Amino acid sequence: MGSESKTVCVTGASGFIGSWLVMRLLERGYTVRATVRDPGNAKKVQHLVELPKAKTHLTLWKADLSVEGSFDEAIQGCTGVFHVATPMDFESTDPENEVIRPTINGVLDILKSCVKAETVRRVVFTSSAGTVDVQETPKAMYDETCWSDLDFILAKKMTGWMYFVSKTLAEKEAWKFAKENKIDFISIIPPLVVGPFLMASMPPSLITALSPITGTESHYHIIKQGQFIHLDDLCLAHIYLFENPKAQGRYICSSDEATIYELAKLLSEKYPEYNVPSKFKGIDENLQKIVFSSKKLTDLGFEFKYSLEDMFTGAIETCRAKGLIPVSYEPSVSC
Ligand SMILES: NC(=O)c1ccc[n+]([C@@H]2O[C@H](COP(=O)([O-])OP(=O)(O)OC[C@H]3O[C@@H](n4cnc5c(N)ncnc54)[C@H](OP(=O)(O)O)[C@@H]3O)[C@@H](O)[C@H]2O)c1
Repeated sequence: MGSESKTVCVTGASGFIGSWLVMRLLERGYTVRATVRDPGNAKKVQHLVELPKAKTHLTLWKADLSVEGSFDEAIQGCTGVFHVATPMDFESTDPENEVIRPTINGVLDILKSCVKAETVRRVVFTSSAGTVDVQETPKAMYDETCWSDLDFILAKKMTGWMYFVSKTLAEKEAWKFAKENKIDFISIIPPLVVGPFLMASMPPSLITALSPITGTESHYHIIKQGQFIHLDDLCLAHIYLFENPKAQGRYICSSDEATIYELAKLLSEKYPEYNVPSKFKGIDENLQKIVFSSKKLTDLGFEFKYSLEDMFTGAIETCRAKGLIPVSYEPSVSC
């Protein structure tokens, strides 16, 4: 492959997943066009421009999912697009216009840019477990044939409902558009992503993952029967699916599952100084694990490298090093 044909675009490049993916792509010799909403915001792009090979192989492009046509330039000439960006504001006061519409219109707009470019060989879309398992009666196991129940989400309007709606509708619309326009489109479905990271601020998923440590009780229900993937495994899987000619369709990318009690045990053994609680009010201690099957991905040849412990030690050590969590908590805070 010549260098021109190794040019790819990563949307949402400043974020938790986007920035790690950019780092891994640069390491593998790709030239990366990273889209961000505000390339002038040093706090949000510093970790990208400081990456090895960034000076020669990375460019920043301004683009917004709410602005039609804004990805055209960044995508023109690329052979691959990794569409990672998404609005994540669970507290939005205008969910329709701030979360749902930009997510759906954004992915369609990006696919239109790919059609216009005529250079894009494959699009990899970062979907979410929220497109798969949000339904009234949980199943013991989920695979790529499962879809969340939109009627249930809209009736219940649980925390994050607008995110689940936005990702589910966006992925469904994207599949329709990709089929109609013969775009080689792959979706990758991560559960909660945990691990060391590059960005300067607290990644949204770690607010949830580290909630047993920080005592953020409102997030306990999200991980009471959780599934997890290491950030590095997830980014390597994105690249694997981009490069593997046999890849097609949806791929769950989940390596571990644990109940909140199992997670609390792991954390308190590893970090006794955080006084992680051993009881969680209202959550049954005998809960069964819920499995997200990655069989389709592993049958294609992808191998996970990291354990649940690797994910959490990586995340905690990075948060400590960046001063995002203290080095200990008093028992009273976490009980
Ligand atoms: N982390 C997880 O546990 C997890 C689990 C499942 C799926 N996912 C999926 O993974 C993707 C990345 O998530 P993340 O954890 O990396 O979140 P993140 O750190 O919040 O990154 C998301 C990025 O999206 C960009 N963005 C938000 N609104 C935008 C808009 N209107 N136009 C253009 N860009 C916009 C932001 O970029 P700016 O810097 O330009 O503002 C931000 O850097 C998302 O698609 C999410 O659904 C994540």
